[in-house]
Formats: sequence, C-alpha cells, structure tokens
Amino acid sequence: MPPSPLTTVPVALADRAYDIHIGPGCRREIGAYARAAFGERLKTFVVVSNPTVWELYGGDVLQSLRAADIGAEVFLMGDGERFKTIRTAEKLWDFCIERRIERGAAFLAVGGGVVGDLAGFAAAAYLRGVPFAQMPTTLLAQIDSSVGGKTGVNRPRGKNLVGAFHQPVLVVADTDTLRTLPPREWNAGWHEALKYGVIRDAALFDRLTAAMPFRLGPDRVPTAAEQEFLIETVAECCRIKAGVVARDEREAGERKILNFGHTVGHAIEAVTRYRKFRHGEAVGIGMVAACDIAVKTGVLAAADAARVAEAVRRVGRMPSARGISAAEVVAALKYDKKASGGAVRFILPRAIGEVGEYAAPSDAVLRRCVEWALKNV
Ligand code: NAD
Ligand code: GLY
Repeated sequence: MPPSPLTTVPVALADRAYDIHIGPGCRREIGAYARAAFGERLKTFVVVSNPTVWELYGGDVLQSLRAADIGAEVFLMGDGERFKTIRTAEKLWDFCIERRIERGAAFLAVGGGVVGDLAGFAAAAYLRGVPFAQMPTTLLAQIDSSVGGKTGVNRPRGKNLVGAFHQPVLVVADTDTLRTLPPREWNAGWHEALKYGVIRDAALFDRLTAAMPFRLGPDRVPTAAEQEFLIETVAECCRIKAGVVARDEREAGERKILNFGHTVGHAIEAVTRYRKFRHGEAVGIGMVAACDIAVKTGVLAAADAARVAEAVRRVGRMPSARGISAAEVVAALKYDKKASGGAVRFILPRAIGEVGEYAAPSDAVLRRCVEWALKNV
C-alpha cells in the first residue's frame, strides 16, 4: 500500500487515468507510490534530472526507490531551457540503448518543466513508447507542466514545436522541495497559477493576488497557514487542469484555454533565445498583453485588465525588457503552433474567470499591446 499523501487529485482519462499526489515530504515515498502505480513488473527507472535538482533531492529519491526494490539508472541533463532539445533526447536514448534498457523499464523525471517535458518526450519515443512518472520540483511544474501529458522539445524558431502527447502514470509533487527554489522560480510558478484564476476561477485569482508576493525559503519552517495555502493552491490548479485535460486531452477545443498568455509569452521567449525570461515570467507578460488585446477589441473591461496587470506586478520584479522589439515578437507569433491556415488565434478573457478564443487583431494593434505589456509589468 502506498502511504497517504495530504492531497490526491485524480486525472480521469479512462485506461490512462492517474493520480497526482501532493504534500510536504512526498519525495521520500516516491518508491512506494511508484510500486503502487506501476505494479510489481517495474524493475528499473531511468531517472532523468539535472545537476542542480539531483544535488538537492537525488539522495532521497534513490533511497526511496531502493526501499521499494526499484533500480535506478540516472541521466543528468544540462540545466536550462536551452537543453530542452532533440540533441539532449538523443543523448538520453543512447544512454538507454548502451545500458540495454528494455520495455519493462520506465522513466522518472525529477525536476522542473524542462526535465519533465524532455523526459516525457524521450519516453514517448524510446522503443516506441515506455511509461513514465513525474516528480516535479518547481512550482510551475507542480501546477502545470507535470500534468496533462504534453511533452516536447524546442526548435530555434519556437518552443515545443516537436513533441508528443504522452500521459504520465504517476505524479508526485512534494511541496517541501519548493523551499529551495530561487525567487524568480517562485514568480514564474505564480504567473501560471494566476492564469488558472483568469481562465476559470475568479476566487482563486483573488486569493492569489492577496497572497502575493509569496515565497518560502530553506532556512525557516513554513507556518501551518503557509503550508495549507501552498498545498491547496497546487491542488486547486491541478484540479482545474485535470478537469480540462480529462474533457479534451488532445486540445481539440477546451484545452486551448490553458494557452492564455502563452501566444505572446512563447514569442517573447523565442526572440530572447530562451535566455532572458523564465517561461512563467514570459507568460506573465503574455497575459498582460492578451488582456490589453481583449480591451482594444472590446472583449474585456479596462478595469479587469488593470487587475490582471496589477496581480502580475505583485508577484515580483521582472527582468528588464529593454531592447526587446515588439515588432520582432509579433513576427515570432506567426510560428505559434496553434495557428490555423497561417492565422494566429488568441485566448482572451471576457471577465476574470472566463475566457474565449478570438481571431488576432491587426499587427499594428498587436505591436501596441505587446509594447505596452513589456513596459508595464
Ligand atoms: P526549469 O525546469 O528550467 O526549472 C527552473 C530552475 O529551477 C532550473 O534551474 C532548475 O534546475 C531549478 N530547480 C528545479 N527544482 C528546484 C528546486 N526544488 N530547488 C531549487 N532549484 C530547482 O523551469 P520550469 O519553470 O519548471 O519549467 C519550464 C518549462 O516547462 C518550459 O520549457 C515550458 O515550456 C514547460 N511547460 C510545459 C508545460 C506542459 O504542459 N508540458 C506546461 C507549462 C510549461
Ligand atoms: N500548458 C498548456 C497545456 O498543458 O495544455
């Protein structure tokens, strides 16, 4: 029997249903959760992580896997968005082939969204598909990227342009691991959390806005109220995402709402070569730009757009956007993978808690909105 976590969120996907276990200290039980989710057939995990995360949590993970009699072959990839590439996936595949990793094995991603997306993609293709589990260690990965089965790698012209839908068998989100996150990684996660508030849950948006800035650190034990806020927020975001994914796994319709803020966000990441902004920060700017587009096209009241911009600002300081050309961002938007017939479409809020899909306005309007967002967050 696996141990009882504080909170479990199920993802209802029929024969590919899985659980997200959330709570402080869960990483020490990863072996028991994995044994329960994968069954006795699991002998070995190919564990994918990076040196930063592995140094902090590798020992606990290995100890827990050993206790559950699960072997581990550890592959450490480079730390950073620029390593989310087909080249890294190739290295991982070769690592597995050299060790004769067979179909009975599974992958385990231990890290943020970069590790999770890369490991999931590599698992989807290795031997035409092996199962995998996620142990997300950033706020962004716990509330978003580890859930829902989107995996992939970046190309120079755009993010996540090559990938696969491949659902994990298990997600274990240890909220204690977040205490070692640098401040900007907290911020990046909170922007994605605000996204859920804007698209689906006005009360969550208000709670988050009131709590910002919110960060824990490694040197102080969190209060009970802080623990509860963190666990409940991670769980609430996962519930929203799990519901959307269960209804529209392959993004035929409803799932597109999860891309709110991402069209401009991804373009900003691409023109800055994935080096200037954290993904969540770019999404924060992208949400502000999308709200401005919504105001300029008569979809959203200006007062609601101002509330979103204020919430994004409250999360924390953004890196300077000086030198970024709004025209280049708008040109990069055209590579958005959600474009249809060459036309980019936007998820725009009608109110806080409610969004719809709309055609893009003219490039001139887009440029003004991007420029405004870059200057005002
Ligand atoms: P990340 O994976 O780069 O992690 C951020 C940094 O934090 C890294 O330097 C990492 O080493 C470090 N780190 C991770 N855990 C830590 C911990 N507990 N303590 C200290 N440091 C830690 O970035 P991210 O924000 O987690 O993920 C961003 C990626 O996720 C992007 O590539 C984005 O496209 C992807 N994403 C995917 C989905 C999806 O549905 N698949 C959704 C959202 C984002
Ligand atoms: N982050 C967008 C999605 O999972 O669909």
